[in-house]
Amino acid sequence: MKTYLITGCAGFIGSNFVYYMLNKYQDIQLVNLDKLTYAGNLENLKGVEGDPRHVFVQGDICDRELVSSLFEKYDFDYVINFAAESHVDRSISNPEIFVESNVLGTVNLLQCAKNAWYKDGAWAKDKKYLQVSTDEVYGSLGEDGYFTETTPLCPHSPYSSSKTSADMFVMAFHDTYGMPVNITRCSNNYGPYQFPEKLIPLMINNCKAHKSLPVYGDGMQVRDWLYVEDHCKAIDMVANGGRDGEVYNVGGHNERPNIFIVKTVIEQLHDKFDDTIDESLIKHVADRLGHDRRYGIDPTKIKDELGWYPETPFEVGIVKTIDWYLANEEWMDHVTSGNYQKYYEEMYKNK
Ligand code: NAD
Ligand code: DAU
Repeated sequence: MKTYLITGCAGFIGSNFVYYMLNKYQDIQLVNLDKLTYAGNLENLKGVEGDPRHVFVQGDICDRELVSSLFEKYDFDYVINFAAESHVDRSISNPEIFVESNVLGTVNLLQCAKNAWYKDGAWAKDKKYLQVSTDEVYGSLGEDGYFTETTPLCPHSPYSSSKTSADMFVMAFHDTYGMPVNITRCSNNYGPYQFPEKLIPLMINNCKAHKSLPVYGDGMQVRDWLYVEDHCKAIDMVANGGRDGEVYNVGGHNERPNIFIVKTVIEQLHDKFDDTIDESLIKHVADRLGHDRRYGIDPTKIKDELGWYPETPFEVGIVKTIDWYLANEEWMDHVTSGNYQKYYEEMYKNK
């Protein structure tokens, strides 16, 4: 049986990863360490309640004592670090917490893993630390070309700078101490359980409430969208087959301008929810500071080395996603009550 320390898995991608792994492997133990920030939500994990293969621990990845105690209690084969502050707009208004969780938290996990796995001058066998990173570390593309694993790191936002810094610490532990590591760098995910500060669920939620749809700038910024389950599959493949010390880019060649995404959401909700929802809700607002224009991933390495490919075309994934949000109104009501309203007013008031 393999034992995983997975962090940040009460959030969007992490909770999808828990379902993915428990469906795929019978004989597995997942220990899920999550601080339950605004983005972490135990409702995301309702489907695994009572499953002895999943243990939830509320706590901070920066907490040395707590993380060390987990390494004492469990003989982890893998650490997979999803935990992070993940929203670019929040990093622009409040960068410090991004340094704490994303940089210091990562270094703390690396130190604790090293203390447990490196004894008497040798690494224990078959261990791996996997850092879940992002294509944003490469910066922004012009109209042509793609990010490969050798594209120079050139982050622009406080969020992407913190993720880049974390990646460099992961590689430093590999290069300095010989720690077995991988890094995955994925493009924009979408799917169930995504917090409605991010483009797709925010637009769904606003459409339903007939609120204006805030499109930053001209809306022609391009993101490379991947259904979350395909990202989970990639992480599993890299954890279990990635070559030591390697970075793997993950993306499905599904580049779309933001305005296309917004119009797709409108169309779907017009047909499925209320036929008065239309494009008159779109409001072009002030652009995000330092807004990256285009992301696009070249996934050749993960395809060639590990046989990964995306299974869910965008046209299928977006329908599944919108249907999920429509069927889970209670989930949306809970996550948009209280603090979310304050966040929304604050973030969008000058836009
Ligand atoms: P999310 O914001 O939905 O979830 C983050 C989770 O981490 C939450 O459950 C939160 O409670 C937890 N967390 C935050 N700080 C913590 C801390 N200090 N200690 C313990 N737990 C903490 O994020 P997400 O979209 O699921 O992203 C997960 C990871 O994937 C992040 O590392 C992110 O950088 C990366 N990533 C995200 C995307 C995307 O499109 N969402 C794409 C590529 C990579
Ligand atoms: O590329 C991977 C990254 O994708 C991850 O590392 C991040 O954690 C994740 O949040 C995501 O970052 P983005 O900034 O690309 O995602 P977001 O959903 O915030 O925005 C997508 C695009 O939509 C971006 O160009 C900004 C734009 N946007 C976003 C919001 C919230 C709008 O035009 N209006 C909005 O209200």
